[in-house]
Amino acid sequence: MIRVRDVHMHFGDVKVLRGVSFDVQRGETLCILGGSGGGKSTLLNVMIGALRATDGEVVIDGQSTRGMKERQFDDVRRKFGVMFQGGALLNSMSIADNVALPIGYHTKLDADTIETMVKMKLYQVDLLHAADRRPSAISGGMQKRAAVARALALDPKILFYDEPSAGLDPIATTRIDELINKLKTTMRMTNVVVTHVMESVQRIADHIIMLDKGAGHPRRDAR
Ligand SMILES: Nc1ncnc2c1ncn2[C@@H]1O[C@H](COP(=O)(O)OP(=O)(O)O)[C@@H](O)[C@H]1O
Ligand SMILES: [Mg+2]
Repeated sequence: MIRVRDVHMHFGDVKVLRGVSFDVQRGETLCILGGSGGGKSTLLNVMIGALRATDGEVVIDGQSTRGMKERQFDDVRRKFGVMFQGGALLNSMSIADNVALPIGYHTKLDADTIETMVKMKLYQVDLLHAADRRPSAISGGMQKRAAVARALALDPKILFYDEPSAGLDPIATTRIDELINKLKTTMRMTNVVVTHVMESVQRIADHIIMLDKGAGHPRRDAR
């Protein structure tokens, strides 16, 4: 589903990624580990096209994104959802409207259809009861699940998560991990998860890569 080949990312003289290569198969969970400032978010941003690699190639579901124009990349973007570090929900609108936002933006579906889709996504993350609440009026764990619902809005094949359990207590963390696993087993979702929580890695990872001085080391013995 994802192929990363010899990716380099330099910010001026700072070489954050120095030749990272790995594959992610469909329906598996890859965890990306490494120290703070080690380039995990940078690698994620290169994979989702928010940053263009200095060198190397990223292939998403058979489509190479190398040298792709922004508009072409929009087609690739519909294949995946992203849960950003911090969740990044808009507090000016309800949870339901947050989930509806990408559907309204990327499709021409009518309001009733969108409402039905939003309910399905909120049901998947067990948040139907909080549909009308503002992000600030629900717990941190619920906010993260709402961010997952929004990432699911366009029925992606791949979900990227940047530190999904940052700031959560162990129980809310376990709940997010269970959600990640449920999406894998029920939808055959491909999950790419940046995390430093080793308990989470043990619960969710099929494979892990370690970023070490900007080079990625695939490990085949995650469990
Ligand atoms: N847009 C940018 N411009 C310059 N330097 C950046 C930029 N983004 C990240 N960096 C640098 O890249 C390094 C890795 O950052 P990051 O990928 O956020 O690490 P991590 O997510 O592993 O904590 C850091 O030293 C950071 O300062
Ligand atoms: Mg980061």
